[in-house]
Amino acid sequence: MSSRQDSGRVIPLPLASHHSASRSSITCKYRCGNACQHEAPNTSGNAYFGDIVESVLSRRGALKATGALALTVGGASLLTGTAAAAPRPAATGGAVPGTDFAPVAPNTEDAVVTADGYRQGVVIRWGDPVVEGAPEFDFANQSAAAQEKQFGYNNDFAELIALDRTGSQSLLVCNHEYTTEEHMFLGYDENNPTEEQAKIAWAAHGLSVVLVERQDDGGLKPAPSRYNRRITLNTPFELRGPAAGSDLLKTSVDPTGTKVFGTQNNCSGSLTPWGTILSGEENFNQYFANADTVTDPAAKERLDRYGFEGTASTRKWERFDKRWDIAQEPNEVNRFGWIVEIDPNDPTSTPVKHTALGRFKHEGAAVQIADDGRVVAYTGDDERFDYIYKFVSRGKVKQGTSALARRHNMSLLDDGTLYVAKFTGNSPAGEIDGTGTLPSDGKFDGIGEWIALASGTESFVPGFTAEEVYVFTRLAADKAGATKMDRPEDIQPNPVNGKVYCALTNNSNRGSEGNAAPDEANPRVGNKHGHVLELDDDTTGTRFGWNLLLVCGDPNDAGTYFGGFDKAQVSPISCPDNVAFDRHGNLWISTDGNALDSNDGLFAVPVDGPERGFVKQFLTVPKGAETCGPVVRDKVVTVAVQHPGEIDGHNAGNPASHWPDGGTSQPRPSVVAIWREDGGEIGRG
Ligand code: FEO
Ligand code: CA
Ligand code: CA
Repeated sequence: MSSRQDSGRVIPLPLASHHSASRSSITCKYRCGNACQHEAPNTSGNAYFGDIVESVLSRRGALKATGALALTVGGASLLTGTAAAAPRPAATGGAVPGTDFAPVAPNTEDAVVTADGYRQGVVIRWGDPVVEGAPEFDFANQSAAAQEKQFGYNNDFAELIALDRTGSQSLLVCNHEYTTEEHMFLGYDENNPTEEQAKIAWAAHGLSVVLVERQDDGGLKPAPSRYNRRITLNTPFELRGPAAGSDLLKTSVDPTGTKVFGTQNNCSGSLTPWGTILSGEENFNQYFANADTVTDPAAKERLDRYGFEGTASTRKWERFDKRWDIAQEPNEVNRFGWIVEIDPNDPTSTPVKHTALGRFKHEGAAVQIADDGRVVAYTGDDERFDYIYKFVSRGKVKQGTSALARRHNMSLLDDGTLYVAKFTGNSPAGEIDGTGTLPSDGKFDGIGEWIALASGTESFVPGFTAEEVYVFTRLAADKAGATKMDRPEDIQPNPVNGKVYCALTNNSNRGSEGNAAPDEANPRVGNKHGHVLELDDDTTGTRFGWNLLLVCGDPNDAGTYFGGFDKAQVSPISCPDNVAFDRHGNLWISTDGNALDSNDGLFAVPVDGPERGFVKQFLTVPKGAETCGPVVRDKVVTVAVQHPGEIDGHNAGNPASHWPDGGTSQPRPSVVAIWREDGGEIGRG
């Protein structure tokens, strides 16, 4: 029996537009500085692959050791239970362990809607106390001092780190990507923000570490602990790696070029094998003012390539701290756009910015351990027509949890080789017609090459010093001939099959006038719904095989592909963003900007076996929200519900959502836990 949930309506393939999927313009304004309403910053003339026909690399065998720890958290719980009944199909479909649940139908509820048989509870909300002495949240009387101790705004990436074998206690580590002042403050005047509002926003960025305890009912609840910590735009960070101390990183406040206050626009991330958290600084350009005052052509080129433009910034922070003013402090921009590493086990530790992984709009980074013990970090640059990178360490991981081993492992990302990806398709260029129609070999697939950009203090890019490669990585990668991709978001190795999965969320400009044409790795004109890439990487080597696991959208659309699975049975999916894995190796995908007239959601899909490509929606998030940071453990799933109610025409005086507290309350970005009513395992029938 069919398990289709949609209306059967065919969604027409859109042509190029300047809107990113169905994201509200207010989200574009505060999250990414209206990136999609401007020309993409990559104006380089990189070649696109054509009709090279080569057999793909032989498939690697079973898994290498991977970056994922065998963490099992029983789940814990709590507060609200806002589950809403959803129409659902008559059949549950596949029985692959971890995906055996009845899919949730597309909907526009102001609620988290889960698969049948599951319960939910909010774990923590914006403003809830995190560190000792934090006051209870008071929306109408928020202060910077309170926010410094409370859970930040717009939670994105999240991770659960088990502190014991039973999973009764875990550390929840969460990014706070950006602030939406119109929703945070009643009567907010964007032309005249107050200094206190700016300082609240600085404190609402960054990350939170908070102990969560499993409750008797299966949910998760925060608790006081010595681990609890807020990291904000005021927290000292150490710049490390080959560009640390460079003149390019020196400012009047930091003449050493090694110390930065804070992290911002932290999007996705991952847990390392040594127990730390990596987090990506993404749309950092939007926070800086007065790029237009720069006239030096070389400096201007470097700013343009990262999207710096205009005079006043959106939030006007430059009025309260000159570091946000490029005219006064030109190098402060170079001190953001890094992968940061924090040690949640030591609340007194100084977080690190890793220059060896390059500077761009990092979505996140995820680590895999190679057979020889070196570590490989994959990382994507989330911008239309930007690139996928990997870093291979020079040193090897040390086993164990001793202080010596931890210190050593936390230095592995300081020294190694940074590569950028070049993709080659194996089908004739004439068969990639821009509609998503499969080429005659039945797959969008091919091979690829990792092009070395720099290793330690050695540059491989003519005209660039090594420091320049790390600080102006986009420009170096342009010169190296990297392949322009459709916004690389999360990229993560699968701990069960060893392959690497990357969400390419969308690119409305693909194939439009003056922009790159479709190619086999980015096969659709005006790619509104995105796709999911599967890499068979040679780990520390320079070659890889690749194919598209999913070409997303309405399965009624002929230009979609679901791993070869019967499209009559799958859930519609649009704009993949974050990826995660359960212990069975199934891929879980959260979406941002669903362009199929439904709220965003979380989906599970087997990647191997007869049900490869059988996408099923596990939950949807409230209206206006994006689904972020999925964590899938045996008995609990958590998602970060980011920007609920962020819908055009609405603000704090006129909220579009009242989630999670209901009634007439303000919407609050929150982390939610989902668990089985009967206490069983997630997706096990
Ligand atoms: Fe913050 Fe790439 O999403
Ligand atoms: Ca092919
Ligand atoms: Ca994201």
